[in-house]
Amino acid sequence: MASANPANNPKNVGIIMDGNGRWAKQNSLITNRGHEKGVAVVKEVVKEAVRQKLQSLTLYAFSTENWSRPKKEISGIKRLIIEAIHEQVPELAEQKVKLNFFGDIETFGKKVHTSILEAERDTSFIKPALNLNIALGYGGRSDIINGIRTIVDEAKKTKKDLQIDETSFFNYLSAPINDLDVLIRTGGDHRISNFLLYHIAYTELIFVDKLWPDFSSNDFQDCLNSFKKRKRRFGKRV
Ligand code: IPE
Ligand code: IPE
Ligand code: MG
Repeated sequence: MASANPANNPKNVGIIMDGNGRWAKQNSLITNRGHEKGVAVVKEVVKEAVRQKLQSLTLYAFSTENWSRPKKEISGIKRLIIEAIHEQVPELAEQKVKLNFFGDIETFGKKVHTSILEAERDTSFIKPALNLNIALGYGGRSDIINGIRTIVDEAKKTKKDLQIDETSFFNYLSAPINDLDVLIRTGGDHRISNFLLYHIAYTELIFVDKLWPDFSSNDFQDCLNSFKKRKRRFGKRV
């Protein structure tokens, strides 16, 4: 077995937190109990991310496609976001975790939007221990299209050629990160489901069978350790 190289510590980690619905079903509970348990897991994983000194943790909480779910589930999720913010922000602030939500947040309504803005304000540290980014109402494709629209508008207004390259294009996307080092997906499926399409060009992908509500900080550590053992070549002959 290859040994871990400390130089390979991940900095920017993403997670597709999947499996809440199946977990609820397995435990004869309604779907939203699964989402509730999922929020409790987020709390533990964030603590571990701070312990591991990650720069950022970017979580996929709700996709643009998730709007097609039952109304009851969506209203439960909205309630849960407000409750989770209310309960967890003081503890996050104590840990110096800077919250940043991205995606079509206004679509969640005024109450959710206001809670989010307050949470971001209450955790706006200049030197945070961790940047915790939450994707809500996010879709990778629409993010890229919106970025292109902004560029076209700017070009029309300034009537100049804008210098766009692979790195500067990140500035036109809504996620407050550039390249992700590692992306973890729980729940046993091996797909991206329209998450950070532009950011994962050279990301290491880790798929975990466990459902998100069963995922523990030990499982998270295992994922980070398995990343450290990977050899990244970026297309080079090494
Ligand atoms: C992920 O869990 C959370 C959201 C998409 C909001 P799911 O609710 O998709 O769980 P499964 O995949 O149905 O088990
Ligand atoms: C991905 O899970 C979205 C989130 C975890 C927020 P989904 O359950 O929506 O993805 P699919 O439908 O299995 O691709
Ligand atoms: Mg799912």
